[in-house]
Amino acid sequence: MKIFLDTANLDEIQTAYDWGVLDGVTTNPTLVYREGAQFKPRVIDICNIVGGPVSAEVTASQDDAEGMIRQGLDIAGWHEHVVVKVPCFPAGLKAIKALASEGVRTNTTLVFSPAQALLAAKAGATYVSPFLGRLDDIQHVGMDLVRSIVMIFENYAYECQVLAASLRHPLHVVEAAEVGADVATMPFKVLLQLMKHPLTDSGQERFLSDWNKLQEQLAKS
Ligand code: G3P
Repeated sequence: MKIFLDTANLDEIQTAYDWGVLDGVTTNPTLVYREGAQFKPRVIDICNIVGGPVSAEVTASQDDAEGMIRQGLDIAGWHEHVVVKVPCFPAGLKAIKALASEGVRTNTTLVFSPAQALLAAKAGATYVSPFLGRLDDIQHVGMDLVRSIVMIFENYAYECQVLAASLRHPLHVVEAAEVGADVATMPFKVLLQLMKHPLTDSGQERFLSDWNKLQEQLAKS
């Protein structure tokens, strides 16, 4: 499973890249706003670090397919790693189809049902992003959506990749891997949590403490 960071923070992206675990980045207008950054230069800066797919969202109105296509073509020209994020509406399908025919990769965002994912895949989306945490928030099991989309895409050999999004904790990531998501995108905090284990901490503390005792013993002998 590929690991993407869901952030527009350059320090977080550089850190994950340096660890050798970063395959890509997803952004959205909320994340860029939170950083106080300008959209285009920030997306280009992220692309220059990652060397992999970086999703950047069109912001034309949800009924404006031509606007999405225009913006998508523009955004795709910013950097070879850009993937154009298109919202999951009928006009979005038209934009996905048109962008795909121009060789532009797309990520269908705000997917909340298997049917939406199926239509996005048929239109030619490169990725679909089920937002599973937001479903959990309203007492639906978000992971069931990811599982269902994975099954549908496997049944018909769609090349479209399932990008599990809106992940809130480490178990979301592990379960996304278990159900066969192609990608999991997560906040940096969740990536940190993935590596954390109290037995690793206490085990290392003990090893270092005993190593120090060994040195003291050697010095006395
Ligand atoms: O990638 C989607 C993500 O940005 C949404 O996450 O936590 O706002 O539901 P969240």
